[in-house]
Amino acid sequence: MSTLAIVPNSLLADGLTRIQQEIDSAFDSLLSVPEDQRARLVEAMRYAAIGGGKRVRPLLLAATADMYGVDRQAAVRAGIAIESVHVYSLIHDDLPCMDNDALRHGKPTLHLAFDEATAVLAGDALQCFAFEVLADTATSGDPFTRIELVTTLAVASGQNGMAGGQMMDIAAETASFDLATVSRLQQLKTGALLGAAVEMGAVLGKVSVEGRRHLRAYARDIGLAFQIADDLLDYEGDEAAAGKALRKDAGQGKETFVSLLGPERAREQARMLVDQAISHLSNHGAEADLLRALARFIVERDR
Ligand code: IPE
Ligand code: IPE
Ligand code: MG
Ligand code: MG
Ligand code: MG
Repeated sequence: MSTLAIVPNSLLADGLTRIQQEIDSAFDSLLSVPEDQRARLVEAMRYAAIGGGKRVRPLLLAATADMYGVDRQAAVRAGIAIESVHVYSLIHDDLPCMDNDALRHGKPTLHLAFDEATAVLAGDALQCFAFEVLADTATSGDPFTRIELVTTLAVASGQNGMAGGQMMDIAAETASFDLATVSRLQQLKTGALLGAAVEMGAVLGKVSVEGRRHLRAYARDIGLAFQIADDLLDYEGDEAAAGKALRKDAGQGKETFVSLLGPERAREQARMLVDQAISHLSNHGAEADLLRALARFIVERDR
């Protein structure tokens, strides 16, 4: 994968390869195609969910969980849940009524490979599937942990998280937003799910709310940096590497960090946020190296 070539960090490369395999194989075994008229729905869910994604959210979750000695299977199941919400958000984001995109992960978007109604339903079903996985005792034997996982992902996905941010993103096509409003938009649209990934790793690790404070600070900074990197990719990235259509934001008249600051200052801002994110991990030793490497990857990535 091209991303691995630009980040000569075997800890990160190995972490990405491992989680990508685990997530693909878990989706493959959990999403079995029924032998009736619902087959098309599950085939569509599999088309969108298996292969292609970087799996940054599951890796953030697993890397955090690993610091606290969490069982890998539990972390992978929680990773499947958060990735299901992410994949659903991309399916709906690509629809003609939203970004109207034709390419995702280097292949036709779901509504083109199948049809719009199936794409809407596949998104709906993936969202429900996420919470089904979290609520299952196979994810955690502790009911309090399961409830906290469900709540964390629900809050990060709804009107106070990703969906709310997507609404603001649509408004950003016609309104002129200042930097504070664009930051708020990005925190919700992208930062909330990335933050939930770190939080869910800490929940599985039974870290106290007080003990999670530095992790939240880390996640807030990388959340913002991640979306600045996405907007920079949109502005100047390579479509073949990214596997999706680029140069869309300016065409839609969308306010982003790049439109407000210009690419150079946006890049500086993203790098500053990554340094700040890493500084929040200063009380950790080598066990946090994967989180540090992931923070750098988030701004240096080409896809
Ligand atoms: C893309 O997210 C959409 C945003 C929230 C910016 P990713 O860049 O994590 O997407 P994939 O899953 O790796 O393609
Ligand atoms: C989408 O943001 C964020 C989501 C919540 C899905 P974008 O519209 O910028 O993501 P891409 O560029 O299509 O991946
Ligand atoms: Mg969008
Ligand atoms: Mg989009
Ligand atoms: Mg984008």
